[in-house]
Amino acid sequence: MTLNLRKPMIAGNWKMHLSLGQSVELAKSVRDATENAPGEVALCVPFTAIAVVAEAIKGSHLRLGAQDLYWGAQGAFTGEISAGQLVDAGCSHVIIGHSERRRLFGDSDDWINRKLKAALAAKLIPIVCVGETLEERKSEKTFSILEGQLAAGLKGFAPAELAPLVLAYEPVWAIGTGVTATPAQAQEVHAFLRRQAGKLFGDGFAAGQRILYGGSVTAENADNLMAQPDIDGALVGGASLKAAAFARIANFQVPARAPARRG
Ligand code: 13P
Repeated sequence: MTLNLRKPMIAGNWKMHLSLGQSVELAKSVRDATENAPGEVALCVPFTAIAVVAEAIKGSHLRLGAQDLYWGAQGAFTGEISAGQLVDAGCSHVIIGHSERRRLFGDSDDWINRKLKAALAAKLIPIVCVGETLEERKSEKTFSILEGQLAAGLKGFAPAELAPLVLAYEPVWAIGTGVTATPAQAQEVHAFLRRQAGKLFGDGFAAGQRILYGGSVTAENADNLMAQPDIDGALVGGASLKAAAFARIANFQVPARAPARRG
């Protein structure tokens, strides 16, 4: 298996925002302001913006992702987009199972599992999201919910197949609310997710697993989140729409991190 460093990743999720012109402008500003970022920087843009943003950031360090995909390769699936089409348009990454997809559009763990399979088959780097609602947290179901989402979403894969996987912990109560998980709260869950990944796929796998935090990440709180030992990056919504804020997050500053390996 290829060894994967737990290289930090800061990914912007633009959700359903921006015109094509605004997309190109923002992508170029982010490109210019993150050239020396300590980790990978990715933009997950609306389907319609993929091709133009791909052209705008060609040859740069920026990575390009979509926000969803369908598992079929082609066919009569009105409104859907396949993994192959995403690659063709210029994507290297794709978000799968975002809580907005789960909650508003009915994406189930089974669907997420199929989408993950399709993404991996097309050599897209999947960013699989998990997270609990406020109600679930209050009733102390956080860990059981996450355990279930992880086991079902990643079901049926061998560890080697999941080498490219990126996980994102996005507590639903922190998304778009301005309420961020405290670094300690996020660290607790990230450590739990890493232990679960270890149970499912072995300790070597878990040690190399990248886990991003998402939910009201800002230029102000990113450094403290990134300083946590099990937080390997951020999935940023609102703040990714502002070049300066997103660049500050991508250029996060923490004491040197010890590299861990997936072996
Ligand atoms: P916000 O950063 O706007 O809270 O959104 C987080 C998110 O959903 C990223 O995928």
